[in-house]
Amino acid sequence: MVDLYNQIFRRKSFHKFKNTIPLTNQDLKIVNDAIKNAKPLDENIKIKVDIVKESQTSCKLGAELCLLFYSEETNFYLENIGYIGEQIDLYLTSNNIGTLWCGLGKTKTDSLDGLKYVIMICIAKVSKNDFRTDLNSFKRKPLKETWEGDLLPFSNSVILAPSAVNSQPWYIVNQNNELFVYRNNKAAKFGFIPLKIMKYYNQIDMGIYLYFLDLCFTFNSFDFSKELIFSNPKNTNKTLICKYSYKKKV
Ligand SMILES: Cc1cc2nc3c(=O)[nH]c(=O)nc-3n(C[C@H](O)[C@H](O)[C@H](O)COP(=O)(O)O)c2cc1C
Repeated sequence: MVDLYNQIFRRKSFHKFKNTIPLTNQDLKIVNDAIKNAKPLDENIKIKVDIVKESQTSCKLGAELCLLFYSEETNFYLENIGYIGEQIDLYLTSNNIGTLWCGLGKTKTDSLDGLKYVIMICIAKVSKNDFRTDLNSFKRKPLKETWEGDLLPFSNSVILAPSAVNSQPWYIVNQNNELFVYRNNKAAKFGFIPLKIMKYYNQIDMGIYLYFLDLCFTFNSFDFSKELIFSNPKNTNKTLICKYSYKKKV
């Protein structure tokens, strides 16, 4: 099995792709395998991923291809795309294919087979030395701002998840072998992005974070189960989106 856990510490956003290497047929197979093998958060949500050249989008990052994610619009469809896309991100990283989640990118097609365009991930092959080797290069909030209760062995790893404008909208309460995962609706204090737009991207971020959590629990030998919670209260600072029950394997 490919070790995606250790890719958490290597991955980074390629805001500009430099010194890229053309993707070979073998690399294209890796990209297709990454898409095919990614597990959904909710298998009932229909999704499609289309692979296009960067020139077919508005992006000018120096990427070779863009993976366009389309989905039906149901509860948790944005989290589902985040969850799937992050597996692809980590798998491509393990094969030295650099990525960028690109919320600002525009496509020519707003829908595909009746599914709505959600977001893209831009990709290009780079050198293995272009990935992170130093934890200090991650810019993240101090753990105590996003975690309440006892720490778990991977608390400092899971916060390395990527998020739109690095807003890190997750908030965790750990009590009695249960983890309550909230989306912080006030995480992005960036005046230039309207809250409604941030909420859209932050739901994708939460799916990314849930995948990081699953990976961390598994790698650290925990038994766990999770339950998605659909609640839509207005004007709350934090929205509960998922509850994990966990136990360390003996
Ligand atoms: C949902 C989502 C959308 C993003 N959109 C953009 C984008 O449009 N342009 C960009 O340069 N970076 C984008 N990013 C990358 C973030 O800025 C980046 O993940 C964050 O700053 C943390 O840095 P790191 O990924 O290198 O750890 C996006 C990330 C996510 C998760």
